[in-house]
Order: sequence, then structure tokens, then C-alpha cells
Amino acid sequence: MNAIQPPSYTPNLMFSHLGFAVSDLGRMEDFYTRVLGFTVTDRGEVLGMDLVFLSRDPMDHHQIVLVSGRPDNLPPNPYHPQFGSLINQISFRVSSLQALRELHEILVSENVQNIMVGNHGIAWSIYCHDPDGNNLEFFVDTEWYFPQPFLIPLDLSKTDEEIIAETEKFSREQEGFEMYADWRDRIGRRMHRYNPNI
Ligand SMILES: [Fe+2]
Repeated sequence: MNAIQPPSYTPNLMFSHLGFAVSDLGRMEDFYTRVLGFTVTDRGEVLGMDLVFLSRDPMDHHQIVLVSGRPDNLPPNPYHPQFGSLINQISFRVSSLQALRELHEILVSENVQNIMVGNHGIAWSIYCHDPDGNNLEFFVDTEWYFPQPFLIPLDLSKTDEEIIAETEKFSREQEGFEMYADWRDRIGRRMHRYNPNI
């Protein structure tokens, strides 16, 4: 029996944005705007901190806010240097494998550090570091679900057809496999059970 009692009422929460402290605001703004295509929606100073608001969606005033004040000499993640020591990852959905491939070319040509391309079965991903060393992920959802975590290398020089075929094959062999759409139905009912108002 589950010991956690669901709350009797929880307002709907939709994740919108995050802010993180940066060491070099100008360099970070350049990377997020010029390389990743964000628009600066506002900027200014509050409580002694410099802020740059960034968005790629007019429905969100900001999806990311860069704020001065990152401490010097933050210790690295003790388990794996790819991943952040405080924020493990900041992840962006990409529309297609081809878009992921194009992004990979941009990251390589911009000499972005710590590029790691991986296959989660449920998603194809590129990880890399932004200029401050934060771990970013860009991913495309697949149509298949099996229990996570799972991570093996992905070769983006293969064709879409090859990547899709081999990913579907090993995904279907995993214990707990189901179509991602079926998993979404199932998990969605569990989520909604806690909130009858959505
Ligand atoms: Fe992720």
C-alpha cells in the first residue's frame, strides 16, 4: 500500500521557467541568443543582481532568466563531469531527428564543450555544456516507452530510418515496454487522480 496520501485538493501547476546564477552574463546571453535562438524579452537590475530574461515562446515572458552571482569555484558533480553539480540538466524538446542533427552541427561549429549524443529509447538526446558549464540536453521523443533511466551512445551520422529501426527494435525487447502513447494515457490518469480540476 502506498504510504503517501494524495492531497485532497491541489491547484494545477504547469512548469514554466527557471532561473540560474551565471558568472559571465554577456557570454551566456550571447550563447543563448545567437547559438540557441532565444530572444531577450527584458533586462534589468533588481536587489543588486543583473537579470537577462530569455524566451522562445511568446506565451512565456521568460523561459530562462540569467542572473548574475554564480559563486566562483563551484565543485563539480562528484559522479560524472557531464552533469551539473546543482542543476543536473536543463532540457529542450526538439521537433525531429533532422533538427537534432542540425543542432549538433551548430554546436560542433561553435566549439561547444562536452557534446555527448545518447539514445534513451524514449528519446534521442544531445548533451553539452553552456559557457558556464551547465549541462544542457536537446531531445526528440520517440514513440516507445520502457522504464528509465537508460542511456547508450547514438550515432547521428546514421539515417533517420536506421536510427528509428534500431531504436524501436531494442526498445521492444526491454522489460516493461509499451507504446509511449499508452504510457501517457496511463500516467496521465494517475496524475489527474490527484487533481480532479484538470
Ligand atoms: Fe533528460
